[in-house]
Amino acid sequence: MRVLDGESLSPPPLWLMRQAGRYLPEYRKTRAKAGSFLDLCYTPEYAVEVTLQPIRRYGFDAAILFSDILVIPDAMKRNVRFTEGHGPEMDPIDETGIGRLDGEGIVDYLQPVLETVRRLRDTLPDETTLLGFCGAPWTVATYMIAGHGTPDQAPARLFAYKHPRAFEHLLMLLADVSADYLVAQIDAGADAVQIFDSWAGVLGEKEFESFAIRPVARMIASIKSRRPHARIIAFAKGAGYQLKTYRQKTGADAIGLDWSVPLAFAAELQKDGPVQGNLDPMRVVAGGRALDEGIDDILQHLGNGPLIFNLGHGITPQADPEHVRVLVDRVRGLM
Ligand code: CP3
Repeated sequence: MRVLDGESLSPPPLWLMRQAGRYLPEYRKTRAKAGSFLDLCYTPEYAVEVTLQPIRRYGFDAAILFSDILVIPDAMKRNVRFTEGHGPEMDPIDETGIGRLDGEGIVDYLQPVLETVRRLRDTLPDETTLLGFCGAPWTVATYMIAGHGTPDQAPARLFAYKHPRAFEHLLMLLADVSADYLVAQIDAGADAVQIFDSWAGVLGEKEFESFAIRPVARMIASIKSRRPHARIIAFAKGAGYQLKTYRQKTGADAIGLDWSVPLAFAAELQKDGPVQGNLDPMRVVAGGRALDEGIDDILQHLGNGPLIFNLGHGITPQADPEHVRVLVDRVRGLM
């Protein structure tokens, strides 16, 4: 929280995107008990348990609510499912379907997630920040239009060119319900929230402005007008040079950086405020020198300014839990 307010701390606070997940044997155990992935997300008892697992094991400075960005389309009755080996799937939406969508009842439907947030804030020690999150409108829209993940989000890009009005309606609806949902997470006890725009990097210049910046700016303005103390991290993966103006145009307190962001450029971005990132998750899989050198480079370039140490994207199931231990100790200067 102090870094989000602009302080530089040494060592920097750290957490990892997807820190609760399949690389942990204890996660796989709870996941098997819970049944489906969405059952895990909607059962506070289990969702609290998996959120806490990486905190117990590593003592990260922040816990991130265990849920998924696709609970919003699930609340919009898009029949979201996670089948083993397929990734997420849902009923794809078209122009007519978008016309029929409304934002009613979304936050009500997500009460079990808000109950998880309340229980987490009651359970976690005061010094552990609790992060809430949601997907950015563009990234959530890409899954809603294709009905599944794709390598380059071609279906959503094409839809946006062909049906600009319907697409605009979808983005603005998602922005408004997502802002309400983040306000509800903050009221339930989240100390700060992160907006994940994992697919920002496939957008052209003008589209980045209209589909990534504008809806996120609308969300942040809406949240801050209602909860002025809210602290918001915006992560636009693959945004590259566009990050130069992203913080200022969206109003985010901190910006997340993926591992392709050059560290000299990251240090420039840090002059305007806190940054979060940006170790390549594959360095955690590799371990050894690749891990040590990646960590040291980030600390050397960004360690003197406001930094939240993190990966440049989610940790992967192949990561060795022992390598994560090494990462934590090295960032904290213990090895
Ligand atoms: O960071 C955390 O620990 C909190 C939990 C979290 C999950 N998903 C749990 C999850 C968060 C913050 C997310 C965000 C999310 N979900 C994003 C944005 C960040 C990113 O990684 O780009 C996206 C695009 C999704 C959509 C999604 N959910 C995909 C594409 C998948 C399948 C890929 C995979 O790893 O299997 C998921 C499933 C998912 N979400 C899992 C977890 C732990 C794995 C499901 C399982 O246990 O089988």
